[in-house]
Amino acid sequence: MDTKTTVIDEAQLSQQFAYCDKIAAYWQQQNTTPTAYVETYGCQQNEADSEKLRGFLVQSGYAITDTAEGADVVVMNTCAIREHAEQRVFGNLGALTHTKHRHPAQKIFLCGCMAGETKVSDRIKKSFPHVDGVFSTHHLWQFPEILWNVLDRKKRQFYITDEPGSIAEGIPQIRDSKLKTWVSIMYGCNNFCTYCIVPYVRGRERSRKPEDILAECRELVANGAKEITLLGQNVNSYGKDLESPMDFADLLAAIAEIPGEFWIRFMTSHPRDASKKLFDTMASHDKIAKQLHLPFQSGSSRVLKAMNRHYDREKYLETVRYAKSVMPDLVLTSDVIVGFPGETEEEFQETMTLIQEVHYDALFTFIFSPRVGTPAAAMEDPTPKAEKNRRFDDLCNLQNQISEEIHKNYIGKTMRCLVDGRDDKGQLTARTEGGRLVRFDGGDSLIGNFHNITITGATTWSLSGVLQA
Ligand code: SAH
Ligand code: SF4
Ligand code: F3S
Repeated sequence: MDTKTTVIDEAQLSQQFAYCDKIAAYWQQQNTTPTAYVETYGCQQNEADSEKLRGFLVQSGYAITDTAEGADVVVMNTCAIREHAEQRVFGNLGALTHTKHRHPAQKIFLCGCMAGETKVSDRIKKSFPHVDGVFSTHHLWQFPEILWNVLDRKKRQFYITDEPGSIAEGIPQIRDSKLKTWVSIMYGCNNFCTYCIVPYVRGRERSRKPEDILAECRELVANGAKEITLLGQNVNSYGKDLESPMDFADLLAAIAEIPGEFWIRFMTSHPRDASKKLFDTMASHDKIAKQLHLPFQSGSSRVLKAMNRHYDREKYLETVRYAKSVMPDLVLTSDVIVGFPGETEEEFQETMTLIQEVHYDALFTFIFSPRVGTPAAAMEDPTPKAEKNRRFDDLCNLQNQISEEIHKNYIGKTMRCLVDGRDDKGQLTARTEGGRLVRFDGGDSLIGNFHNITITGATTWSLSGVLQA
């Protein structure tokens, strides 16, 4: 397998900016301001990529809208993690035939993780003629060229060749929020968990240079960011591929040295590489939020081996015990898969006991979804769907009880929270350091700053409180 990272150099990127200029000139000639809509599916990595797509679009003269109706460009930035995610995209893509019918000049693009699957690009070629362009995550930096080719040549564009992956610095970004920001520190994944499609659609692990990451973080803080979430499929292996290696804990510590009042979060940590050094670093820096998303996937060591996770139940529990010992207030969340091929009732019960033992603040729960091309999709899977659904429900019920119990313990406590907006009922929303949602009443001037809130109520999903004068 070719594992070489391609670094997109300045000359290549300035070629793309030249395409942006051509596109902007094309619209100027027609005396119109074109509009563009970007729809994002999947994880934060995709959210961050969509900010770059919008950056390119704005540089090409487009105004960003929040609906596909009437937009001159529609980009669907897709997720391939589970079957359901893909079905949603195909459904929504089908509906775009109508928006395009009403606005025939509309150009429709599909990108993101689904675009990296041959079965998807083949289906688009054959059955979705209204889609003008498809490009995989490796080709995101070429979006201006792809868009220009569609406008200029009036021909469908497919940029889907598989590559180990690239790093492009300097793509403009239109951020969703100035307050809460994403920073990708690395791309791709080398882990090949047997159920997972990500390594196939996002290429090999590659780390951005620390100086680029630090410069970006400094700029964000200077522009008012109060929360920076570092992104990577497995942040703990950050730096392994760099010429002068720097590990993730060192990177965190360096970011925490940036002056200003802000929280640093990160995701996702793979338990295999979660080191004591990482937890010690978290414990010793106030700016690093005491929150950890540490996916365990299964409580059964046999299933974990079949998943190729490289840790067993005991090792995972040991890691959690250490993390909690140095950070007593740690808020811990995780991902879990129910119904992995061959999972027995006993093995499922091991997942249940692990959840009871760890006492997670919240869990992201998934039923196994076979992904074409992954080893697990070819494994024998005799458990009936109804049985998997029953396990899933049992697990959710257990977790809901635990979340509610943990949340009730917050009542009476006063917590420093970042106030980030309003919900649809008009209440202010804020996040605790651990990332828990708090609702309370107050004026707009509170938004965008840290304030102390006393917790007065709790449900499974959120907290409510009053502002501390
Ligand atoms: N890189 C992250 C996970 C990214 S995917 C990590 O390793 O923790 C987010 C979650 O989706 C995974 O943690 C897993 O729980 C779930 N997932 C991935 N592939 C899946 C599949 N084929 N079926 C069901 N859930 C899956
Ligand atoms: Fe998928 Fe595993 Fe990589 Fe996470 S670590 S993205 S679950 S292969
Ligand atoms: Fe989905 Fe791709 Fe993220 S498959 S979960 S959008 S990395």
